[in-house]
Amino acid sequence: MTSLREVLNRAEADRVAVGHFNFSDLVGFNAIVAAARDQRLPVMLGLSEGEREFTGVRQAAALVKAVRDEYDYPIFLNADHTHSIANAEAAAKAGFDEIIFDGSALPFEENIAQTRKAIEAIKSINPAILVEGEIGWIGASSAVLDKIPDGVGVLTTADEAKQFVDATLVDVLSPAVGNMHGMLASMVHGNVRKRLNIERIAEIKAAVRIFMTLHGGSGTNDDDFRRAIKSGMTIVHVNTELRLAWRRGVEAGLAAAPNEVAPYKILGPAVEAVKEVVSSRLELFSSR
Ligand code: 13P
Repeated sequence: MTSLREVLNRAEADRVAVGHFNFSDLVGFNAIVAAARDQRLPVMLGLSEGEREFTGVRQAAALVKAVRDEYDYPIFLNADHTHSIANAEAAAKAGFDEIIFDGSALPFEENIAQTRKAIEAIKSINPAILVEGEIGWIGASSAVLDKIPDGVGVLTTADEAKQFVDATLVDVLSPAVGNMHGMLASMVHGNVRKRLNIERIAEIKAAVRIFMTLHGGSGTNDDDFRRAIKSGMTIVHVNTELRLAWRRGVEAGLAAAPNEVAPYKILGPAVEAVKEVVSSRLELFSSR
């Protein structure tokens, strides 16, 4: 099967991005896989530490492996926002393709030191695993937020990015370029959109020349997405929009069958709602 590195190399050459979607149950998992297979696109599935705690680390890896084995499908698993070396090691042992060591809340030098330690630990288990490092504060929750979290909005500079990448040798970099985790209520209920600094993305990409990930994709302006991808973003993460769709779908499924108790008969609308979001984002990220 093609490796994640090969898929990212191809995406980078084609100036498209691979969609990364979080899940924590079979509704999300089945929706993401169905959307990707419909469009015959490679896809990344991610789980934060909280999501992994709910699904089980090895259980999530087994789900992904089952799809790979059955369809020989380019589906990849990422340990999203991992804060401890122990959790990174557990994901590496379970067979994850990528691990994000997130030291972005630490002082810069400490982030470098911890990320280096994480890389050493992960690569000694399996050198093929891609390790992503994060710099710049973009918040931490895929939730509906009352306000922009303190400290969000300071952009990563090309110099900082280069220093971090040279010192850590990460495979993938996640910078702060106007993106933010979560959505403001004005994004959920109104037309407010996150705007990205495209010039800064291009400057950072030119300085680091490694794969870059755009986190916090929910609620982002579509044209900014296109330009960010053309300027060097090769992976794009979306979570909050999927969580909102999940909730709406579960509520619709319950309302449509008030006496039903079989989960699989209730949860169909939730799968459809999540699939719709994933499909629309995959189409955008893969457009040339
Ligand atoms: P959003 O929840 O804002 O889409 O961010 C998701 C993300 O970046 C997960 O790593």
